Amino acid sequence: YEGAAKADQIAYLKELIVEDDEVHLDTLLNTMVFSVGHVDAEIMFVGEAPGYEEEQQREPFVGPAGQLLTKIIGVMGLQRESVYISNICKFRPLVGPDQGTRNRKPTAEEMQACLPYIMAEIEIVQPKVIVALGATGAEGLTGRQEPVGRARGKVRSWNGLPFVVTYHPSYLLRNTDLSERRKVWE
Ligand code: URA
Repeated sequence: YEGAAKADQIAYLKELIVEDDEVHLDTLLNTMVFSVGHVDAEIMFVGEAPGYEEEQQREPFVGPAGQLLTKIIGVMGLQRESVYISNICKFRPLVGPDQGTRNRKPTAEEMQACLPYIMAEIEIVQPKVIVALGATGAEGLTGRQEPVGRARGKVRSWNGLPFVVTYHPSYLLRNTDLSERRKVWE
């Protein structure tokens, strides 16, 4: 709502999403994992969806990929607390009845359902740059499929804000090729 402090607006969004039936798809688990970070952040990271660790801790990017992201943020000379970290999809995607620690990427439909919330977050925070982590997150924001290899290194505009795409940190964890890993750190 107009005029409220940024933190209040984010808190209000969080309340809205809990009560919003449109986002509670049957293919998603119930625990909402919203965002973490500073409402005045200049850089906003946008991932895909929470996984097992994130659902347990109710915080985005706290599992292995998240710990790596935190490390990368540190190497950038920033702190996790000073940036804004969010996901397009605010619920862990359902894999099956005995899901355990298994995770999956959100589908286009699942991201579409949550899209109004990440859009509102961007609108409120007004970062100087949006960084999509991975092709899925980028697709969720832009509606376009494009391999990260082609999208990275270019500054685009997302509703008037600078927008870049890089590999998801989990790509770094899977990929042992130093030249590929270097691309993420760059
Ligand atoms: N991967 C994501 O895209 N988001 C998280 O919060 C954790 C892992």
